[in-house]
Amino acid sequence: MEMTMLIQIPRVLNSHQLSQIREIMDQARFVDGRLSAGKAARRVKNNAEMADSPEIMNTLNNLVMGAVVRHPVYQAAALPHKAATPFFAKYGPGQTYGDHVDDPIMGAPQRYRTDISMTVFLNEPDEYTGGELVIQTSFGEQRTKLAAGDAVMYPSGSLHHVAEVTEGERRVAVTWIQSMIRSPEQRELLYNLHQARESLLQSQPEAEETRKVDVTYINLVRMWAEL
Ligand code: NI
Repeated sequence: MEMTMLIQIPRVLNSHQLSQIREIMDQARFVDGRLSAGKAARRVKNNAEMADSPEIMNTLNNLVMGAVVRHPVYQAAALPHKAATPFFAKYGPGQTYGDHVDDPIMGAPQRYRTDISMTVFLNEPDEYTGGELVIQTSFGEQRTKLAAGDAVMYPSGSLHHVAEVTEGERRVAVTWIQSMIRSPEQRELLYNLHQARESLLQSQPEAEETRKVDVTYINLVRMWAEL
């Protein structure tokens, strides 16, 4: 049983960071997104991806990933081992990304396994029509279209697509994470236990139950983590 949990991360980027990103993307050079797609995905992918100078790509990468890695929900839910340099994509009218699963291994020369896919929404939902990220989960189809600066994480093995944009422009950063915890089921258990632990550490820091939950969380991470 795959418990394909979607996790929303609110306010990864603030309005200052978002306007810096917008300014850079307005000036940037984009190429056909099919160039970076795997064999099967290439047939269903229709978007544009930023391909500018290493300096500019670096600036954007630092802006987005710097904020992502500081976010406590990201740390607790992803238990990241390695994170990829994001792709910056835009979808105009008629553009879409059909059903696919993400490639299992990415990165060159530093390869990593894609356990978690992440989309960071870079513009507001009222700036485009359509463009929902649609993910197949064990609870059915989940459609996600978040505020600028918010992110969503989901297991990379879940079938997903981007609904066609019919008006305006959708801008996102997408990235992939190799987790210390490979199994989505184990990650979900740990994330729930982490939330219970945080709340107990707040409300009853001295209690015996708190100590047990804390020690159990720590030792489960040790038991399951692969580096
Ligand atoms: Ni994908």
